[in-house]
Amino acid sequence: MDVQTIRDLFLHDLGDIYDAERKIAKMLPILASEVIDNPSREALQEHERETLQQIANLERCFQILNARMPNTTCPVADALQKEHDNFLKEGPPQVLLTLFNLGAAAKTEHYEIACYRGLVAKAKLMGEEECYRLLEENLRQEEEMAQRVERLEQQFGQQHIPHAQQADR
Ligand SMILES: [Fe+2]
Repeated sequence: MDVQTIRDLFLHDLGDIYDAERKIAKMLPILASEVIDNPSREALQEHERETLQQIANLERCFQILNARMPNTTCPVADALQKEHDNFLKEGPPQVLLTLFNLGAAAKTEHYEIACYRGLVAKAKLMGEEECYRLLEENLRQEEEMAQRVERLEQQFGQQHIPHAQQADR
């Protein structure tokens, strides 16, 4: 797409995260099916449902702006998927695959957080109140999920890795 204005850039970035969210919605059930820990599986499954709502929020933003959906692709989401697939080919034991998937979810959330922070800032610059509110909602969910998977990663490691040191926080 031809990017000349802040609106064009906003739509470009919106298209990027829209593609990423749709890829992530397909990856989350795969990650959930591979983990051996119930709380981790529940977190990934709940976030899949949240992700579907986030996709609807993004579609609403395109509607509000009266814009066509750009066919932007997000190469970062492709790379995260490839990283997972490559790791799986190494044949890791289930405990390590669980830890890897929690880490992969954390990486994904942090990428999304950065995207949404940028989008929220641009929506504010443009005075797009309703988009601002919808994007803030997505951002809050990603921040909560990032904290949740990081906590799970630590707890799971302490329970399943022999001689794990107890962290003091
Ligand atoms: Fe997310």
